Amino acid sequence: MNLPHNVKIVEVGPRDGLQNEKENVGAAVKIELVDRLSRAGFANVEAASFVSPKWVPQMATSGEVMAGIARRPGTIYSALTPNMQGFEAALAARADEVVIFGSASEAFSQKNINCSIAESIARFEPVARAAKEHGLRLRGSISCSFGCPYQGEVPLGAVADVVGRMRDLGCDEIDIADTIGVSTPRKTQAVMETAARAFALERIAGHFHDTYGQALANIYASLEVGVAIFHASVAGLGGCPYAKGATGNVATEDVIYMLDGLGIETGIDLAQVVDAGEFISRHLGRKGASRAGNALLAKRAG
Ligand code: HMG
Ligand code: MG
Repeated sequence: MNLPHNVKIVEVGPRDGLQNEKENVGAAVKIELVDRLSRAGFANVEAASFVSPKWVPQMATSGEVMAGIARRPGTIYSALTPNMQGFEAALAARADEVVIFGSASEAFSQKNINCSIAESIARFEPVARAAKEHGLRLRGSISCSFGCPYQGEVPLGAVADVVGRMRDLGCDEIDIADTIGVSTPRKTQAVMETAARAFALERIAGHFHDTYGQALANIYASLEVGVAIFHASVAGLGGCPYAKGATGNVATEDVIYMLDGLGIETGIDLAQVVDAGEFISRHLGRKGASRAGNALLAKRAG
């Protein structure tokens, strides 16, 4: 089976990872983390989230982080923007890409962003328009595309519907997210194929949390159907504050190790990602969650 020759990895650790850490990591550490990741060669780093600080206090320093990072030419720095208030903050912070985030599950939409799916699309409309006016990239993220912590099964039709709405808003890229890491490979392929009937396959991203240990298998299954953009979190940081028990995204080091082995180009230097993972794990006072990262560190220590 032909797999893509090149894959883009969107590093989401500084946002998806750190938004869910109990310890509120200071802006200086976040800045150093983003800078280390930029130097490792990522074309896209999700560095900020302009949401209500009452809902997600860990992201309250996003403006400071965006002001402090050393921007690498060629790297897109993304920020979550649930509404116009978030968009204005992202614009002031010079984000390159704004992310509107909805859900394929009504129940999760209410818990995460306090409105229905239809209301969320209405809120995203002015954000999408403003992004276009200001020449910013627009990404749409769809939570619970493979299952929901509140309603359980999510029908394929619900995913197709939200993909279509995000497409109509003018999204440049759409993330199909397994918020609680419940999917398995065949199901993943069915969901990705459904999404690809409504939106260009080459602009679809897989966002897999690793709660049930299925994320790498789901990425491989997605590669088989031609998906070539994946989100990952250095040292496997993260989770979601509105999805209890959800663990972090798939660890970036594990994804790169697998892609390197498959001969798939990412443009990212694994050794530097391992260093970045060690840096943030040491700061958090624990061992990183990347199996490949830990193995490579053990090998280095000899
Ligand atoms: P709301 O309470 O319905 O909004 O929250 P509101 O418009 O009524 O505003 C209430 C208060 O929030 C006001 O402040 C606003 O100013 C403030 P007050 O007058 O009470 O002092 N506010 C804001 N402050 C800063 N920035 C903003 C903003 N908007 C309103 N942008 C809202 C609605 C969406 C804001 C809220 O529900 C929220 O912030 N939710 C955050 C949810 C979140 O960040 N979740 C995690 C990220 S999504 C994720 O992790 C999933 C993903 O990884 C994919 C996957 O894995 O599934 C992407
Ligand atoms: Mg996530």
